[in-house]
Amino acid sequence: MSGKLTPPVTKLTADKIPEYRKERKPTEFGGCFMCHGLFVKADESLGCSCQIGYYSDLGNIARMDMGEFFNGPLLNYIRDSFKEGYEPFEMCSLCVSRTIKYLEGDLTHSVFLHVEPSTNCNLWCEICFCTDERKSTNPPPRVNLPYSSFEKMVHDLKAAGLPVGTLALVGFGEPLFNNDTPRMASKTRELFPNAHIFLDTNANFGGRRAKEIANCGLTEIRLSLDGIDQESYVGYRVGGNFQKALGFVQCLVREIRETGSSTRAIWKYILFSHNDNDEQLRLAVAMAKELGIEIVFDYTVGARASTRTPEEIQAIIGTVRTSANLDMEAQSLIARRLAEAREAADREARAEHSEAQLADALPVSR
Ligand SMILES: C[S@@+](CC[C@H](N)C(=O)[O-])C[C@H]1O[C@@H](n2cnc3c(N)ncnc32)[C@H](O)[C@@H]1O
Ligand code: SF4
Ligand code: SF4
Repeated sequence: MSGKLTPPVTKLTADKIPEYRKERKPTEFGGCFMCHGLFVKADESLGCSCQIGYYSDLGNIARMDMGEFFNGPLLNYIRDSFKEGYEPFEMCSLCVSRTIKYLEGDLTHSVFLHVEPSTNCNLWCEICFCTDERKSTNPPPRVNLPYSSFEKMVHDLKAAGLPVGTLALVGFGEPLFNNDTPRMASKTRELFPNAHIFLDTNANFGGRRAKEIANCGLTEIRLSLDGIDQESYVGYRVGGNFQKALGFVQCLVREIRETGSSTRAIWKYILFSHNDNDEQLRLAVAMAKELGIEIVFDYTVGARASTRTPEEIQAIIGTVRTSANLDMEAQSLIARRLAEAREAADREARAEHSEAQLADALPVSR
């Protein structure tokens, strides 16, 4: 236990919109995930995306009509706030789910459905709410999203004429801890044949799990392997076994081929300072080729993030794709604003300190 507490959950409700509106601050951002998406936590509640709003609760998917909710007052308030140049809630000023540009098109006609199948995990990566919660002094129970609630939600959306454009089966936890994750993908494929459906996994499982997901309607399986050997891998993937993950990938690739599945397996390699030297990057590209899968290098933020420039990385990996979970342009703006705020606080503290020194030096009048 770390001695830290898992934060309490704050409810965000439509009846408080007049209060939120009064507190709104201008924004430099164009929008955020919630303008076009729903983030469903494994405990059936709706978070305000998966970042600073993870501990917000916008409602329960089992108790609401999700079609009505998606085009209801709370999400329209968020969309309208950004359009009018304001951040909807006070917490938004720290949110990394914001994007520079407003999301184009009619945001009320198709859904980006982000679903957290499980809050359980077999690894202990440092920058993950799942790790923080398990190490906290008040760890919440580890839960799996019930399939019945998932099914009700996608039927609600279908009945409301709201196609799921994307389904992301990933949250803070390992999706393969939920036995029903493959069924969630196949149900969504059945209802929304054109949906882009993907799953992220740490791949620390045996062949049975690989076979279950190889041909269940997923467009893409993203395999989180941030390294080329045990040493570089556990720098971030604490408790993970690189060889086991590699065995899982081999089994998955074989099963995809043998079943004629259209699912793409992708090696997702997050760039940290412990796994980004020239030799490691070149070897990763060669290993991916041998495995017969695409590799994508992902940028991240935080103390462990690679400090190499995209140009340096690109010069080594050549035509290989790079990407990021977050809008990196927005992340640099957030980092700049945080640095400015810190500098302003330092300046204020220094000014107060000099004032106090001056007051001490002055003779006390009687
Ligand atoms: C929180 S994980 C949950 C899914 C699964 N357990 C896994 O690790 O792939 C969701 C996604 O976040 C990515 N991720 C984990 N730590 C990250 C970090 N520090 N920066 C950026 N992405 C990260 C993972 O690689 C994965 O693609
Ligand atoms: S910017 Fe605000 S409304 Fe949007 S996801 Fe973040 S916390 Fe929620
Ligand atoms: S494997 Fe995924 S869910 Fe588990 S601790 Fe790491 S990032 Fe979090």
